[in-house]
Formats: sequence, structure tokens, C-alpha cells
Amino acid sequence: MAATLFHIKALCLLLPLLFVHGLAQINFFRNPFSSQFSGEGLLNGNGQDQSQRTNLFPFNFPFNFPFIGRPSHSNDHDAYEDREPAPRRTPADDSDHNPQLDPNARPDFSTDFKGSWDLVSKNSGVSGMHIILLPNNKLIMYDASAFHISDIKLPNGQCVPFMDKRSNKQMTDCWAHGVEFDIDTAKIRPLKMVYDPWCSSGGLAVDGSLVGTGGWDNGIKTVRYFKPCDTCDFNEYQTTLADPRWYATQITLADGGFMVVGGRRAYTYEYVPPPGKFNNKNAKYFLPLLDQTTDLDENNLYPFVYLSTDGNVFIFANNRSLLLSPKTNNVLRELPVLPGGARNYPASGMSALLPIRLDLNPAVPPPAEVIICGGAKNEAYGRAGRGTFIPALQDCNRITITDPKPVWKTETMPSQRVIGDMLILPTGDLLLINGAKAGTAAWFFADNPNLVPVLYRPDAPVTQRFTELAATDIPRMYHSSAAVLPDGKIIVAGSNTNPGYNYTAKYPTELRIEKFSPPYLDPALAKWRPELVKESTATELSYGSMFEIVFKLKGLRVRNGDIKVTMYSPPFTTHGYSMNQRMLILEKDMVVRTSRGMYRVVATAPPSGVVAPPGYYLLFVVHRGVPSEGIWVRIK
Ligand SMILES: *[C@@H]1O[C@H](CO)[C@@H](O)[C@H](O)[C@H]1NC(C)=O
Ligand SMILES: *[C@@H]1O[C@H](CO)[C@@H](O)[C@H](O)[C@H]1NC(C)=O
Repeated sequence: MAATLFHIKALCLLLPLLFVHGLAQINFFRNPFSSQFSGEGLLNGNGQDQSQRTNLFPFNFPFNFPFIGRPSHSNDHDAYEDREPAPRRTPADDSDHNPQLDPNARPDFSTDFKGSWDLVSKNSGVSGMHIILLPNNKLIMYDASAFHISDIKLPNGQCVPFMDKRSNKQMTDCWAHGVEFDIDTAKIRPLKMVYDPWCSSGGLAVDGSLVGTGGWDNGIKTVRYFKPCDTCDFNEYQTTLADPRWYATQITLADGGFMVVGGRRAYTYEYVPPPGKFNNKNAKYFLPLLDQTTDLDENNLYPFVYLSTDGNVFIFANNRSLLLSPKTNNVLRELPVLPGGARNYPASGMSALLPIRLDLNPAVPPPAEVIICGGAKNEAYGRAGRGTFIPALQDCNRITITDPKPVWKTETMPSQRVIGDMLILPTGDLLLINGAKAGTAAWFFADNPNLVPVLYRPDAPVTQRFTELAATDIPRMYHSSAAVLPDGKIIVAGSNTNPGYNYTAKYPTELRIEKFSPPYLDPALAKWRPELVKESTATELSYGSMFEIVFKLKGLRVRNGDIKVTMYSPPFTTHGYSMNQRMLILEKDMVVRTSRGMYRVVATAPPSGVVAPPGYYLLFVVHRGVPSEGIWVRIK
């Protein structure tokens, strides 16, 4: 009853004039204002009208509160019982993950340090809904021009005209919806975005530029470019894409080009054309998986997509996944269903491609393993719309996608998590951070913030993989983000569960930026921290070739097995998913001490663009779990 009241009250507040009578009608879910979903946008590949199934956000901002679009189907909440997370299905087996293959390797330095938090900016101007680190060590952050509000104005009195859909009047928006954030000084520079990047996707191009795709409204088919330079601004091509891409995933392919997969009512993928070129409306490929995994509440947006080490593309949506050849555009095979709930937006779980071990695997191609953690029950979004936030999923699942007969192996996290972020640390361990313990993605749809980051060691014995770390006191709910920085710290930004900017809501629009120092930054370990000598280390790498790395390390003899060389491609992070995140652990030669406190090691660059797409990476030397600061290298 309370849920129903909440539902109606919200409607009355928000839609005083519109369709109150429409509550009981399915047609209510259609958008009377927008033409963008009419025509082909409403049709899937079978020509069926999908408008009734896909009912989230059917209205133009600010009317598009997600919960108004739910059909009032069954009273399932009365029958619902909150259950414990499902027991482990396939016991994980650590026999195939032996971290000690190198007989010389000593264990990581031990530390009881659980990490620490620093507030580095009280006001980022724009809430960090989408973020990416560029090779000039500037973080690009943006949210939505639909909001027509932020806390920083465009420079030089610039404004962007727009048609206000409520009043039908021409208005101007002088707020910036993107900023460049200096990770060292916390200085911000406003950026201009004319075509709305709300819930868009992105990646780093070979030349170190940000390439962003899709968004909402006038930005839904846009491709935007941002060069890493101190005076540059966005270069936008409004109608480049063949299909609307709202909540799509963009991934980098072996040649450095991009594929964009899915998006609301877009059961297709397409390849991003060169700047200034346009995809015609047929330049897209229908993907039945996206159609078939669309729940009433979707649960398959922002699919998890990875370029596998064999050149195929892995696509995971809701609870199903497949391998696709980007060469032939054929679906090669489907992988086993992952039970337990839904994993993609708005059930938003976390996922990463585990570090690719080029050091342990002479195998060609090297094995590729995907991890998917948390998310929500399929019905969680509907329940949240009626005011009940059911517990998020608490499982982690791994599958080797290069295996001809892959199986999911399940583990249990220390806590439930939905709308969290999963980052690969310079060491190759994972960090689970941000998010909530109940509910789903979408405005107001989550509760019980999960303030405790979790470290996950993929190669440790099963019982020793998870460690809970120091809690933050800032909830990072829907629309929050995180990124790995070259110094090994994690920058944490955003959180905005409100339509527009609201500083008084239960979960206010968050403009504060924090940095989290993981356990390897324990001050007691500082003396074991290697320091890369930039001038003597190769930064232009060619596929498969050996290159020299020089580092300083005081006061002790290093054994060959104590050192790992890792290479990390900085992802584009939004909505709990870090697109194009990739970690490679390189094959290396013997570590040689060249003089007191000075070492040299020759590593082998990744063999091909399939294993490591061309472009910029952060290179780290890791000494028994303590990483150096990263330096930017480029591979081609
Ligand atoms: C996968 O998700 C669908 C809903 O999209 C659900 O009906 C089905 O039962 C799920 N499968 C498993 C094995 O959990
Ligand atoms: C902020 O959110 C609160 C709680 O939902 C609401 O009462 C208030 O009207 C909102 N303020 C603005 C400016 O939207």
C-alpha cells in the first residue's frame, strides 16, 4: 500500500496535467512528445513493436521519471520473500590459479592497511557521471545537458540554445555539462557539449583522444571527440550513428577502431566511422541476443563487451552471452547462462576482463577470463518502483571465454553490490567500489549505500580472495564513477540519483571528488615501492618486440620473480561499467641489477592488437604487490 501511495504521490507531483488517467493504460508508456523513438527506433529486427516492453524513461526530461512508466502488473510484492543469496552453484576451484608458478617469486608484502580516503575537491563543477583519464593526466568528466544545470558556467559567456519542451519556448543553457579535471591540482576547466552525452559510451582512440558515442535526445546518434590538450574542446558530429545509442557499450577493436553495442531499443551493433563520416541507416548488425534478453525492465543495457584474445568479441547481456566475430559479423556460439539474476542496466552489476597473463601463458591465444559480480534480481527494478529496495546480488562469477567448453565458477562477495564499479589495479588485483546494497540503477531506485570497497585477488586461493577495505563516508550511488590514476590511487567522483542537481535530497547530487589509496599505498610499504626511470624506459612499443624498463628500488636485493610488469588501458567509466578496461601482465626477461638501487628488465610487448589494441597504456612495475607509479607508453 505504501508503495502504491508513493507511486501515485510522485505522479501527482510531477505530472499535474499529464495523463493521470493514463495510469491504468499501457499506452501511457508511449512518449507523446518525442519523435525520436518513433519509426525504426520502435522496431526490433523482427519488426515487432517494442514500445510496450521497453518502458523506461519514455518521457522527455523532466517528465521521464522512470517509475511512472511501469505497468501495474501483478501484486508480486505481496508474495515476495527476501531471500539469502543463492548458495554457491559450482564451487570455485583454485587448482588452476596458482600464483606461484615462478619458483623465484616471493609472496606479496603483507599489510594490515585497509586503505585511506582523501577529499581532493569540494566541487568538480559537474557531477562525474562519465569519466576517463587521458594521457595528459587530465580526467574528463561529464553528465547530461538535459539537466540544463550544473555548478560551473561555460567560459566567455557562451550559451547553448535549446527548446524547452514544457513551455515550448526557445531558451539558453549557459552551464557547462563537462569539465576537464587536473588530477594533480584539482583545477577544473569547463567544456562545451552541445549534443547530449547523457548515458553515453566512450573509449580512448589510438592518438589518445576521447571518442564518445551516443547519448540522449539530440546526442543519441552523436560521435564526439576530445583531444588531450589544455585548450581543446569537444568536436561533435551530431548524427553519425545508424541507430540511437542510449545506454550502449563501446569497445576498442584490434585495429584501434570502435564497435558500439546495443542501447535502448537498439538491438544492433555498428562500427564507428572515421571522424566526419556517417553510418547510413543500414550500417548496423541485428543481434538477436539483445532483443531476446530485454526484460520488461530491460536489464540488458550497457552490455558487458570485451575483445577476447582470439579476436572474437564477447557480449554479455542480462544473463546470457555469446562470442561474435567482428571479421565476419557471425555469432560463433553462445556461452552458458549465468543464473542468479540480472547483471546489466538497470540491474547493473560489475564486470571486467581479468588480467591477461602473458607471463604465464606461452599459449596462443592466451586465455581470456571474464568476471561478473553483483547486480540485481530481475524483478528488483519493478520492486524499487513500488518503493521496496530488495537486496542486490552478492555473487561473483568467472568464465574463461577462450575455453571451448566454458563454465561459470561462482564465489561470494563480503557484501551485496549493485551500481558499483570494478577497476583493475596496477597490481592486477581488482577493486570493487561505490554502489548500493539494495535496489537498482535509475533515479531514486537504490538504497543502503555500500561504503566499503573490496579488494579481490583473482589469483589467490579461493578463501583468500576478498578483503574489505576502509569505508568512505560519501555514498556513491547511481551515476557515480571511479578511475585508476598513474600514482596507483583511485579517483572517485559523481553520484546523482536526482533529475537535475539537488543538494538536499537523501542522496544529493555529489560534486565532491575523493581519492582512495589502496592497501599497496600503505606508508610502511613505501620503501619497497619501485620507481620507473622514465628517461631510460621505452615508451613507444611495437607488437611482440622486447623493450627495456629501468627502475630504482632501494635497500634490498630483488629476485626475478618478485617483479611483475603490467600494462593498463584506461577505461571510460559510466553506470558502473568501465568500458575498454584491459590489463596485461607482460612476459619478461631476468631482472638485472645494474648499480646500487638500480635495476633493468627487458619485457616483451603484447603480441598483437587482438591482445592489446593499439594506443596508450599505463606501464607499471610491481614489486611483490607494490606498484610503481605508472608511465604512459604507446603500442602499435
Ligand atoms: C535468465 O533471465 C531470464 C529473464 O530475462 C529468466 O527468465 C531466466 O530464467 C534466466 N535464466 C536463468 C538460468 O536464471
Ligand atoms: C530535492 O529533492 C527533495 C527530496 O526528493 C525534494 O523535496 C526537493 O523538491 C528537490 N529539490 C529540487 C530543487 O528539485
